[in-house]
Amino acid sequence: MKIFLDTANIEEIRGAASLGVIDGVTTNPSLMAKESGNYRTALAEICDIVQGPVSAEVVADEAGEMIRQGREYAGISEHIVVKIPLLPEGMKAVRTLSAENIKTNVTLCFSANQGLLVAKAGATYVSPFVGRLDDIGHNGMDLVADLVEIYENYAMTTQVLAASIRHPQHVLQAAKIGADVATIPYKVLMQMFRHTLTDVGLAKFTADWDKVLARQKARARS
Ligand code: E4P
Repeated sequence: MKIFLDTANIEEIRGAASLGVIDGVTTNPSLMAKESGNYRTALAEICDIVQGPVSAEVVADEAGEMIRQGREYAGISEHIVVKIPLLPEGMKAVRTLSAENIKTNVTLCFSANQGLLVAKAGATYVSPFVGRLDDIGHNGMDLVADLVEIYENYAMTTQVLAASIRHPQHVLQAAKIGADVATIPYKVLMQMFRHTLTDVGLAKFTADWDKVLARQKARARS
């Protein structure tokens, strides 16, 4: 499973990229709004750092405007993936942009039927919003499983990109289900590294190694 970072924060992206564990980035208007600076410059910088798929979201409800914004984003870098809202007009935009070899990520997917239509339209990615479904008492991960199953049934090429990820268990579940990608906040990425036994084990190795060094020093002195 690929891991994308779900943020528009350059420092977080730089930090995660330096770890060598992320394959791409997703942004959205809310994430962009948290950062200062020009969005075009920010997207160019993110693409430069990541050298992988970077989703940039259009804000429009009519296909023509989505296509215009999508083309503008695509001109920033070959790594741009145009993020399009799951609307009938959005599917028209997906068709047009796909025909121009521009990658698309259809966002705000909350049902398997929506996801079926996204694949029919030929999107590169679909983003089921796991956490937001959990928030209203559904099991968001069921949607990820349904999409993986449906796409496999018909060898549909749209990739399932699990989004709205809130904690490491979501990442684990997405990986077990076979999602193609999970896009995760920086905080969740760092939480995935943590295990108490790793900390305890490292403390013991360090203490024992200090003993080895102390013994060698003592030998050298005698
Ligand atoms: C990413 O593509 C989505 O926009 C993002 O994961 C949504 O996450 P949220 O539900 O935490 O806002």
